[in-house]
Amino acid sequence: MNICIFASGNGSNFKSIYRAHRKGKIKSNIKLLITNNSSCGAALFAKKYKIPCEHISSEKYDDNELEIKMTSVLIKHKIDFIVLAGYMKKLPDSIVNKYQDRIINIHPALLPSFGGKGMYGLNVHKAVLESGVRYSGLTIHYVDNEYDNGRIIFQKSVKIDDEDTPETLQEKILKQEHIYYPKIIAELEKNYEKKSTN
Ligand code: GAR
Repeated sequence: MNICIFASGNGSNFKSIYRAHRKGKIKSNIKLLITNNSSCGAALFAKKYKIPCEHISSEKYDDNELEIKMTSVLIKHKIDFIVLAGYMKKLPDSIVNKYQDRIINIHPALLPSFGGKGMYGLNVHKAVLESGVRYSGLTIHYVDNEYDNGRIIFQKSVKIDDEDTPETLQEKILKQEHIYYPKIIAELEKNYEKKSTN
């Protein structure tokens, strides 16, 4: 299976997925990174490890051009599966439709709560703490045409302590993300292989 990672930020999930691949825990090829931010941590990591990286952003392209560029890059690299790892933009509908059940996202809260437009990074953890809930966590889900809305694949809860701040909660959840995102990708690739050999 050929995987394309999409990321906009630090890229700590991208790194954990890549490390799992290097250790043989993820068998698929990590073929490509697509980013909307050419100087983000994920892009720098790709450069360091010579992973092909495409900078595709709305600063360079209008909506139509962006969709054409993304589609052609995915075709060129023969991408079978898309992993969103801290990608802060909505994918064009045509790509979501083409890759139905083959695009996954990770979200740093227990969806369907604390998701939707504008709910990313520290915003999520601030909203969680303000609500007074005692547990947060992470959700891995398929991507559909709405933000944080597709079918849930996996969730892991994380206990909130009285002294937690948005930053400490983010750190606790990120640690869990780094454990579980590679594991779930490894499970999904097995299913993918089974389907393609049947
Ligand atoms: C992660 O916590 C991920 O769950 C979150 O962005 C962070 C990216 O961190 N995603 C969202 O908020 C999606 N709505 P990273 O760049 O270090 O992997």
